[in-house]
Amino acid sequence: MEKIMIQGGRPLRGTVQISGAKNSAVALVPAAILAETKVVLENLPVISDVETYSEILAELGGDVSWDGNTMHIDPSRMISIPMHNGLVKKLRASYYLMGALLGRFGEATIGMPGGCSFEPRPIDQHIKGFEALGATVTNDHGSIHIYAKELRGAKVYLDVASVGATINIMLAATRAKGITTIENAAKEPEIIDVATLLNAMGAKIKGAGTGTIRIEGVDSLHGCRHSIIPDRIQAGTYMIAAAATRGNLLVDNIIPKHMEALTAKLEEMGVEILESGESLRVIGKENYEPIDVKALIYPGFATDLQSPMASLLTQASGVSMLTDYVYSNRFKYVPELMRMGAKIRVEGRSAIIERSKLHAATVKAADLRAGAALVIAGLLVEDGVTEVLGVEFIDRGYDNLVSNLTMLGAEIWRE
Ligand code: EPU
Repeated sequence: MEKIMIQGGRPLRGTVQISGAKNSAVALVPAAILAETKVVLENLPVISDVETYSEILAELGGDVSWDGNTMHIDPSRMISIPMHNGLVKKLRASYYLMGALLGRFGEATIGMPGGCSFEPRPIDQHIKGFEALGATVTNDHGSIHIYAKELRGAKVYLDVASVGATINIMLAATRAKGITTIENAAKEPEIIDVATLLNAMGAKIKGAGTGTIRIEGVDSLHGCRHSIIPDRIQAGTYMIAAAATRGNLLVDNIIPKHMEALTAKLEEMGVEILESGESLRVIGKENYEPIDVKALIYPGFATDLQSPMASLLTQASGVSMLTDYVYSNRFKYVPELMRMGAKIRVEGRSAIIERSKLHAATVKAADLRAGAALVIAGLLVEDGVTEVLGVEFIDRGYDNLVSNLTMLGAEIWRE
């Protein structure tokens, strides 16, 4: 079993280049299914979730090849075969196969998605959207079977502003007859990225990034070339790690606007942040103020940065509060941080975090962002070597994490 070993106590210094966004990539790759000709996606992160997706497309008959961080997808010979098990169980975002296959072929059979299961993650809003477009959705031996003779545009109101449901409905609606509007749509930058790709493929989507998205269906979509946005969660993880280790780090190749919620909270703690073009410099300080963080849907503080933030808050001089309004119990990492000496108490949707001196321990990541939190905690431990297990989760979303941190001065290695 692979593990990440960390001898902490060194500040992160230098420059880190941020790669393309995981949560865009896992939607853009299946979106290519909707095209009749070749799609080229640039700046993709080389992470296991994207690699799994490229294998799924190949299983469906797509011709997929890599050239550095660029993926070439020829979807012209694809067919909609049932995918009950296997690769679809390896990642959460396999739910995007539903919208993409439904849009292109009028039919999809997909096993319930796997991925990080920090709590039950329903897909009722995705299903509601497909049904509104005229599809019949049934449970086929534990898999979801979706069929539509013809998709028709409709008005869909989402009960929760779900990222996945917004994108999935958008994918299917590009090929529906007439106009679809998604109300209470999610506004995350990844949604704008997917709409940008689809529009370059010939779709007619307006309003992505706002609460109302209007999609006028078209008869066919064609190939294009698209460069993916930078990963704001990866960027945020490095920013938090730099602050926690009292480093001085330039986080480059990002869209600083996407980082505003995090930047504001870091500044409130006393971290110095300097913006310049496509980068942010994070300058750590010896003493930090305790703060109150609320994880919300975009443009609020990202739930995906909630766990890394907990590790940083152990360094504030007082009691901080971290509340997650997106997921009710995304705190499986807390007992692991406590094994390292963190003083944290979970009450309902909140974690109450006190200043703590962390010590080395063997800890296990139960999901991707929990893994990031444990690595940051390990970077803070001066005496002893921290062992982080569950590396396969970290590999799902962070490319080159260990080599990047090594380059920035950390003593970290894989075993
Ligand atoms: N929800 C429902 N019904 C649905 C869909 C969602 O009740 O049909 C609820 C969820 O239970 C949750 C909330 O709505 O409480 C938001 O879920 P959302 O659908 O927005 O999440 P997601 O699309 O499944 C994406 C990211 C997650 C990220 C969330 C929130 C991808 C592949 N995943 O998940 O990323 O936490 O949005 O921003 O885009 C990660 O990167 O580590 C990660 C988990």
